[in-house]
Amino acid sequence: MTTAIGIIGGSGLYEIDGFEKAEERVIATPFGEPSDALVGGTLVGREVWFLPRHGRGHRLLPTEINHRANLWALRSVGVRHLICVTAVGSLKEEYHPRDIVLPDQYFDRTSRREHHTFFGGGIVGHVSFAHPVSAGLRAILKESAAAEGATVHDGGTYVNMDGPAFSTRAESETNRKLGFDVIGMTNLPEAKLAREAEIALATLAMITDYDCWKIEEEPVTAEAVMGHLHANVSAAKRIITRSIPQIPAEADWPEHRSLDGAIMTPRSLWPAE
Ligand code: ADE
Repeated sequence: MTTAIGIIGGSGLYEIDGFEKAEERVIATPFGEPSDALVGGTLVGREVWFLPRHGRGHRLLPTEINHRANLWALRSVGVRHLICVTAVGSLKEEYHPRDIVLPDQYFDRTSRREHHTFFGGGIVGHVSFAHPVSAGLRAILKESAAAEGATVHDGGTYVNMDGPAFSTRAESETNRKLGFDVIGMTNLPEAKLAREAEIALATLAMITDYDCWKIEEEPVTAEAVMGHLHANVSAAKRIITRSIPQIPAEADWPEHRSLDGAIMTPRSLWPAE
């Protein structure tokens, strides 16, 4: 069966154009409402569904995003490969604003982890998360980003803070000393839930600032983030358009089998639907 491709857009990326036969779908999930209606259709020959994580009009704080509903909605329309676009601050001298990082690791500094799993309610599962990003999808994004002339850094650790306030300088310095590469407020829960939903995920992390550790730069502001993002959104769209035809139509990567052996509760004890 041919699968669909999902795109989650972050700050500055609230829509994707170029769909043939675009349709909007409002999806109800057992976890409540997604950030917005999904917009889908055919894009460069594949079925693609787009969701802006903060909602159109940027209405949701990072901690207000219903990640479970978002991932559930995408999976329910057949998404098995997911590209996330997200703004991040750089924690490294050599990672400059408007560069792109393809994270391959995450560090969790969030506080609402009970919202970051589909398990619970009588079913206990533990997926493997040692390699949280799809190597196959990351490789496709890397090649497309390079072909589009972007400065791309392959791999890196994304530390996920809650926000909404940006870090203090002490926190920023500590994150640097711990060896993290970029900081953001949203992408880790998406990666965890994608893994539980057997969706292969990779992220285009668009650098918008140097957080607040760089003495000779102004500390990050929302205005600066949006300024760099607007400049970068068209690059993100071109990278996605170039990537889509290279994504396999089938779901047969290891990430698509992440629930094999992950569930501890015997099926006979699962709550009735
Ligand atoms: N998103 C963009 N820049 C950021 C920063 N410096 N910290 C957290 N999230 C961000």
